Amino acid sequence: MKNGKEKVILANWKMRLNLKETQELAQEMVKKFKDFNGGTVGLCPNFISLPSVKKILDGSQIKLGAQDVFWEEVGAYTGEISAKILSEVGCDYVLIGHSERRELLMENYEMIHKKLKVVLSSTKLTPVVCIGENWDERKTDRRNFVLYEQMHQALSGIDLKESRDIIIAYEPIWAIGSGTAIEPEEAQYAHKIIKMTLSDMFGEKTVERNFKIIYGGSVNKDNAKDFVGLENLDGLLVGGASLKADEFYAVAKTITNF
Ligand code: 13P
Repeated sequence: MKNGKEKVILANWKMRLNLKETQELAQEMVKKFKDFNGGTVGLCPNFISLPSVKKILDGSQIKLGAQDVFWEEVGAYTGEISAKILSEVGCDYVLIGHSERRELLMENYEMIHKKLKVVLSSTKLTPVVCIGENWDERKTDRRNFVLYEQMHQALSGIDLKESRDIIIAYEPIWAIGSGTAIEPEEAQYAHKIIKMTLSDMFGEKTVERNFKIIYGGSVNKDNAKDFVGLENLDGLLVGGASLKADEFYAVAKTITNF
């Protein structure tokens, strides 16, 4: 099926807003998306804001996501947050291995693999595994290999139950925060590589049933239309453009044809 999967549009607010701003934006989002039924929409605020944002989202159709998780279930891990706690707070999604963590905090795919495993084994959260090449890798034509490697390191040996979904977020590092998204054809090509690799690893049926592939990197209300109808693109992970309810709504509306 070309574009049969329901789209998922996630907002990654990173560390951009304080507590009050986070809550106010969540309230605006609830109002804005009141009648939206074009797809699944989720907000990923900072850890501290999760319980209060959950309260704000209660009764709305907007889902809650966290920006990170630790790879152990419980124990002496100062400063870390477990998948179970995220689940307790009411999260539906959790980002794993965002490139900002890979670049700034030396997070690697061994850690990402362990995080994915604990999320799948101890909760019902849907993991959003982030992958994507940097500019040097792109420039030297190593993207396909990089994506292949990242996926294998993150996902090999994962025990995927029929009822569990995994979202792969393709975020080319060089496009994040740059103000310019990559060319839609290029995104489509990368998504095809991702899908082919997943099919090799899990089989086509499982990929159709359990996986979604979304794009992230400087998507905004003006360029969202370029991503409409692209093959193997099941949604978007939006940073900067999700910090205003109007703009995020416009992006969601565009990509879902709502
Ligand atoms: P921008 O949309 O600000 O480029 O951020 C993308 C991103 O990193 C989402 O996780």
